[in-house]
This record gives sequence, structure tokens and C-alpha cells, in this order.
Amino acid sequence: MSAPAETPAPLNFVPLASLMFVVSNFEAGQPKSLAEGKCVMAHFVKVGSRAELEDLEGGKLVEADGQRIAVFNIGGSCYAIESTCPHRGGPLAEGMVTGEEVICPWHGSRFNVKTGAVMTPPAREGVKSFPVRVTGDDVEIDFAERRFITVKP
Ligand code: FES
Repeated sequence: MSAPAETPAPLNFVPLASLMFVVSNFEAGQPKSLAEGKCVMAHFVKVGSRAELEDLEGGKLVEADGQRIAVFNIGGSCYAIESTCPHRGGPLAEGMVTGEEVICPWHGSRFNVKTGAVMTPPAREGVKSFPVRVTGDDVEIDFAERRFITVKP
């Protein structure tokens, strides 16, 4: 009795429809939003050094890419959210930090510093959060989401 013939491994291929999807979602070299079913490329901007943020107690205001961002160090990891409170514009970077929440110094709304979600009123909506990465000694924030807003659908 002979051994069964080995079945050849299937070829890896990318369906043409997938390629067309990728190609059609770049206009003039500008990637677009995943929310629109399109591609987003990271846009990291340096906002400080590791040494600056290592001993951070509370928040630190950084202005980058035209935005005011509150950066927090929670248990050795950095997080970034918009610094302007959506209630009346209070400076979240100056708020007291308790656990994973920052308290708006003007009227006391609490926001999760990891997600930007509002936890208590009077603010009714959260703030945007930004991915943070450490590259060497640089702390960088990804502004890709802001960028996609500026791109025409
Ligand atoms: S401005 Fe932040 S709670 Fe009012």
C-alpha cells in the first residue's frame, strides 16, 4: 500500500477585492479614518522626555499639534487626554489626580485619564484620549485621530 499523496499547501493570496479596498481608501496619498471604513496612519509627536514625566504628580500640560493635552503618569505608564473640560473649559492638566481619574479644578467633573470618559457631572461628555508611546527617551503622542477629522470624507 502506498502512502497517500501529500496535499499541496494552499497558496497565500490577497483577494482582489481587499486590494481594491486598500487602494480606494487613499486619496492623493492621504490615508483616512477606520471609522469611515478607511485606513489611518499613526502620527506621533514628541511631547516630552521620559525623565520629565517619570516623577510627574498630577497632570502636565503640553501643547502639540495645535492642541492642549494633559499628560498623566499613572503607575509608571503615561496617558494623554484633551486638557480642556467639555463642561466650561476647565484645565484638566491642573486637576487633582486620584487613582485613574482627574478632577476638573473648576466644577469637579471626573474623567478617566486612560480613556477620557466622563465619570461624574456636571460635564456630560468625555474628552478624547490619545495613544502614548515611549521611544528611547522621547514620550510621543499619536495624533492620528485628529488628523483624520481634517481629511475630507
Ligand atoms: S469646567 Fe470642568 S466641570 Fe465645569
